[in-house]
Amino acid sequence: MFQLCCPVRNCTSHLEPRKTGLACGLGHHFDRAREGYWSLIQPQDRKSVKAGDSDAAVLARHRWLTSGHANQLMRFLSPLADAAASNTGSEHPRIVDLGCGEGSFGPALFNEFADSFCGIDLSKRALRFAARGWAGATWVLANADRTLPIADTSVDCVVSLFGRRPASEISRIAKPGARCIIAVPAEDDLIELREKTQKTGHRRNRCRTIIDEFSSTNLQFREHKTWRQQMQLDEDGIKDALAMTYRAVRHSQQARLGSVTSMQVTLAADILLFERAC
Ligand SMILES: C[S@@+](CC[C@H](N)C(=O)[O-])C[C@H]1O[C@@H](n2cnc3c(N)ncnc32)[C@H](O)[C@@H]1O
Ligand SMILES: [Zn+2]
Repeated sequence: MFQLCCPVRNCTSHLEPRKTGLACGLGHHFDRAREGYWSLIQPQDRKSVKAGDSDAAVLARHRWLTSGHANQLMRFLSPLADAAASNTGSEHPRIVDLGCGEGSFGPALFNEFADSFCGIDLSKRALRFAARGWAGATWVLANADRTLPIADTSVDCVVSLFGRRPASEISRIAKPGARCIIAVPAEDDLIELREKTQKTGHRRNRCRTIIDEFSSTNLQFREHKTWRQQMQLDEDGIKDALAMTYRAVRHSQQARLGSVTSMQVTLAADILLFERAC
């Protein structure tokens, strides 16, 4: 399995498998949840009792992905993922997915590397899906905005797909030559749905902000690609798109959809590639 470090403050020793779970040399012990993920979250790292995405958003994202809505995006990301996994020349490239959610992107992009793949998320519901879907990988309940339970300079590839992107922690764990792939919604992602529900669809380009976030780290910006696709959504697809992007919360916004049961939408993502100098 993916080598993890003890999350107890100021410990950071390697965690080794024991009969009953994982333990570090100082005796800190962690059980594996029945559903197959490791809970490494520390009390001080919880933002709230119900941390991470809401169950409704996780379920909507799971339906969205399992019904194939992101298949084209996965195909688009695949060559980038292959190149990132082989860039440092490791036979077993260590890959970390921050804010991995329900876990579908891991096996789609890194199928042959289950042993050295680690997905991190704050939602138990999401990790249950992830561990069920790809049991050979390592799934960890932790807050990606705090210290990651991963050793310095030990990771070949970090992905953050619509997830967390803690620049200083990514730069701490990245090996020389490691790549980081970040995907965020592009400014026209679901614009038709947003214009309909919010009256004015706000177009926000996040690329500059992300490049700025990494500018003070050892990761250099390498490449920007945009993925874009038109898709006809049915009523369930519209509901899931709203729920997984938190737009279902506002009833007034939902009401504006009226009796729309089908809609042509744009799906679009900005994909940014960073690399740590050798
Ligand atoms: C939009 S979803 C994307 C999930 C997945 N990467 C995908 O593309 O399907 C964002 C994910 O980030 C997780 N998340 C939010 N805050 C987090 C944090 N501080 N640490 C770890 N995960 C977090 C949420 O629980 C959610 O699963
Ligand atoms: Zn420890």
